[in-house]
Amino acid sequence: MSDETLSGGLEAAGTQRQDGFDLSQWSARRLERVEHALSDWVVADAPAGLGETMRYAVLDGGKRLRPLLVLAACEAVHGNEAAALRAACAVELIHAYSLVHDDMPCMDNDVLRRGKPTVHVKFGQAQALLAGDALQALAFELLAPDGTAVPAQMQATLCRLLARSAGHAGMAGGQAIDLASVGRSLDEAQLREMHRRKTGSLLQASVMMGAACGAASATALSRLAAYGAAVGLAFQVVDDMLDVTADSATLGKTAGKDAAQEKPTYVSVLGLDGSAAFARTLLEQALQALAASGLKDTRALHALATMVVNRDN
Ligand code: IPE
Ligand code: IPE
Ligand code: MG
Ligand code: MG
Ligand code: MG
Repeated sequence: MSDETLSGGLEAAGTQRQDGFDLSQWSARRLERVEHALSDWVVADAPAGLGETMRYAVLDGGKRLRPLLVLAACEAVHGNEAAALRAACAVELIHAYSLVHDDMPCMDNDVLRRGKPTVHVKFGQAQALLAGDALQALAFELLAPDGTAVPAQMQATLCRLLARSAGHAGMAGGQAIDLASVGRSLDEAQLREMHRRKTGSLLQASVMMGAACGAASATALSRLAAYGAAVGLAFQVVDDMLDVTADSATLGKTAGKDAAQEKPTYVSVLGLDGSAAFARTLLEQALQALAASGLKDTRALHALATMVVNRDN
């Protein structure tokens, strides 16, 4: 499904070819590697059905945008591929855990995710909670393997980047703001801060973790951070728009939920046209940052940013 989902987004984006670069083709082999690795690493034999619940939460679905950003950034710095595959899967495990918890009745109370019943609907709330916990722990285990394939210093850097982006300074903090903002109107600066944390942070970390798998100059790192911040914010702006404009079948999750639950979103603050214009501005910023990075092969990062803004799911 990831491949098809991604291709759907690419068609809508009209970005299959860009300077001779074919994102669908570039993605296909990498998605295959990520799916295999996730399936190998998220094992079924955890006790009392926990393994089945974890696999349900992670496999057979999702665009895998975060893993692709990790791999693209690693390739841009000619980094360690074994480390990048671990980082790609680790970020996806954190993302999957965040979705499991986001969908629970105490948060967004959603019944549909990635075209399937949500984890708590299928397995119950306690299993959903534990699957999220276990996926988060597994993410860090993947980043710290035995042996010499990933140097110790690189392991530590990857763990730090992921921990910061998942915790109070990032995703969990942003989710707390999200829940505290129900029924309130936020101004654009407050909304931006919420989105930066709850979604932007993990997307930016994906880019920085890919870069941390190799050696990049300070300039390249700061420009990649700017690219990741812009793409990360654009991603949630577009998520807010799709909640209004797309249907549940296309999204694989319930459309129209933000207004129904009185969530402040970019659509509620800027309107649809204003949000689309803002997403385009963020794309421009991301591409400018990439161009200023001094890195040579940034075509995949370029195409992924374009896809984020033009996607239809
Ligand atoms: C959805 O993320 C949740 C947000 C952070 C907005 P994705 O749209 O990347 O979800 P999947 O992984 O493709 O299901
Ligand atoms: C979720 O944002 C962000 C996460 C950290 C999971 P949303 O609540 O808007 O995500 P969807 O729309 O349910 O995928
Ligand atoms: Mg939410
Ligand atoms: Mg939600
Ligand atoms: Mg949403």
